[in-house]
Amino acid sequence: MSLVLGIETSCDETAAALVGGDRRVLAERVLSQTREHAPFGGIVPEIAARSHLAHLEDMVRGTLADAACDWSRIDAIAATTGPGLIGGVIVGATFAKAVALARGLPFVAINHLEGHALSARLSDDVPFPYLLLLVSGGHCQLLAVEGVGKYRRLGTTLDDAVGEAFDKVAKLLDLGYPGGPAIEKLAREGTPKRFELPRPLAGRPGCDFSFAGLKTAVRQIVDRGEVRDARARADLAASFQTAVADTLADRTGNAARMLARLHPSGAHLVVAGGVAANKALRERLAKVAASHGLALVAPPIRLCTDNAAMIAWAGVERLALGLVSPLDIACRPRWPLEELASAAPASPP
Ligand code: KG4
Ligand code: ZN
Repeated sequence: MSLVLGIETSCDETAAALVGGDRRVLAERVLSQTREHAPFGGIVPEIAARSHLAHLEDMVRGTLADAACDWSRIDAIAATTGPGLIGGVIVGATFAKAVALARGLPFVAINHLEGHALSARLSDDVPFPYLLLLVSGGHCQLLAVEGVGKYRRLGTTLDDAVGEAFDKVAKLLDLGYPGGPAIEKLAREGTPKRFELPRPLAGRPGCDFSFAGLKTAVRQIVDRGEVRDARARADLAASFQTAVADTLADRTGNAARMLARLHPSGAHLVVAGGVAANKALRERLAKVAASHGLALVAPPIRLCTDNAAMIAWAGVERLALGLVSPLDIACRPRWPLEELASAAPASPP
C-alpha cells in the first residue's frame, strides 16, 4: 500500500499530510495565516509566501512525528504546483522537490483544483464519472469528473468566485476575513425575505455563474443606509446567502441535466472547496441532487477548506496510475483543470 506526503501552500494555509492508498489519513496539520492577513482585510501574497517559508519545515516534521513515520516508509511526495499565489506555491513545490531529490522519491505535481475535485474519493466511495460543483475563494465551476486528470468544464463564473462574493459582502458588513463562515453564522439569526436580491443568470440556459451584480446589489442597500441595526445586518446576510444558494441550485440543476446526457451512469453530485463548508448550501444542494436522482457527497469540512490531505490523496491517485512528474515541472499561477488531460502538464511558454 502506498504512502504519500502531501504539501499545500497555494493560499493562506501551510499544510502537510500523510495519506495511505487505503484512504487512511495517518496525520495532517494545517496552519492558517488568517491572523497575519486579518489587519489587511484580505490575503497579502508577500506575507503569505514568507509565512509558508517560515513554517513549512516544522509542519512537515510535525506531521511525520504525529504519525510516528520516518522517511523510509514514504513512497512519494505530492505538492501543489498551481494554481494559486505563486510565491507560496513556489515555496511548497520547491521544498517538496528538494526532499524528493534528496530522498530519491518520486515527485507528484498536483493541481490544487484537482485536490478539491478528488477529495470526495478520499472521504467517500465515489466512482467516476460524477458531477462536481467546485466553490472556493478563487473558483466557481461545474465540472464532469471523468477520471484522474479528466475534467470537462460545464460552466464557470463570468466574474467573481462565490467565496470572493461571500468575502466582499462580509467586508461591506464589517464582518472581517474570511467572510464565508461569518456570514453563515450571522445568517442563522436573520430572515432571508427582508431584502430582495437578484439571482444572476437563474432561469437561463447553461451552467455559468455571475456574482458581481449580487454583490453590487448588497452594496447599494448598505450605501442607502438600510442596514442600521444588528437585525438588518443579519437579515441582509440571510438574504444574500439564500440568493447565492438559489443561484448555485439553479445552475447545478442545469449541469445535472448535462451530466445525464454526457454520462447516464453518473450517480453523484460532489460539492467541494471552501464554500462547501456552508451548511445551508449543502442542504439546498441535497435537494437539487435528489431531484435529479443523484446522491450528494459533501466531504467533511476539514477536507473542504484548503488542506494537504486532499493533495496527498491526489498524489495517491496519480501515483497508482504512474503519473509522476519531472523535477523541472513549472509552478503555475493559472492552471485550468481542463489542461490536465495529459499526465505531465506542459510548462508555460
Ligand atoms: O477552498 P478555500 O479554503 O480556498 C481557496 O482555494 O479559495 O476557500 C476559501 C473560501 C473563502 O472565500 C471563504 O470565505 C469561503 O471559502 N468559505 C465559506 C465558508 N467557509 C469558507 N463560504 C461560505 N460559507 C462558509 N461556511
Ligand atoms: Zn482551495
